[in-house]
Amino acid sequence: MADEWHRGEYVIGTDPARLDIAMIHQYLSRSAYWAMGRPLEVVRRSIENSLPFGVYRGSAQIGFARVVTDYATFAYLADVFVLPDFRGRGIGKWLIGVIVDHPRLPGLRRWILATKDAHGLYAQYGFTPLHAPERFMERFTG
Ligand SMILES: CC(C)(COP(=O)(O)OP(=O)(O)OC[C@H]1O[C@@H](n2cnc3c(N)ncnc32)[C@H](O)[C@@H]1OP(=O)(O)O)[C@@H](O)C(=O)NCCC(=O)NCCS
Repeated sequence: MADEWHRGEYVIGTDPARLDIAMIHQYLSRSAYWAMGRPLEVVRRSIENSLPFGVYRGSAQIGFARVVTDYATFAYLADVFVLPDFRGRGIGKWLIGVIVDHPRLPGLRRWILATKDAHGLYAQYGFTPLHAPERFMERFTG
């Protein structure tokens, strides 16, 4: 099941077949502080097992995010980016708004994400610091 949202010349879509995996891999592995060096096969597998969102202008993909979810209680928002030439135009906010309101993700008990410096973006869509960080643990290998 794939959906599309339109705003001016931009489109957000969830069709995995439309994704530009080479562009996503290039951005994540070379420019994303959290995914430097991530192999193509890992990028591909991560997307195959997520709900992916591509942002497009014409045939070119200019943004991405993916959601790891059980579609019932929980979702993890990951690998969010807009290519540098397209930043500061509201595309990132539109993308996060589309994701948190997606009809396949209604009423989830918890969404989580990790960010170094974009707290102010996600705060506009209801994300807050952990209410009870002492209740969370992670198994992190970098
Ligand atoms: C973060 C990112 C996706 C935002 O996309 P964008 O299209 O430039 O964002 P928008 O134009 O919709 O605006 C972003 C909003 O979040 C705010 N914000 C807070 N922290 C931010 C940050 N670190 N980077 C960008 N915007 C940030 C901006 O001030 C803006 O809010 P405002 O319009 O109310 O002032 C984009 O800058 C990006 O790809 N950055 C590099 C990758 C990255 O850091 N991804 C997030 C990892 S958690």
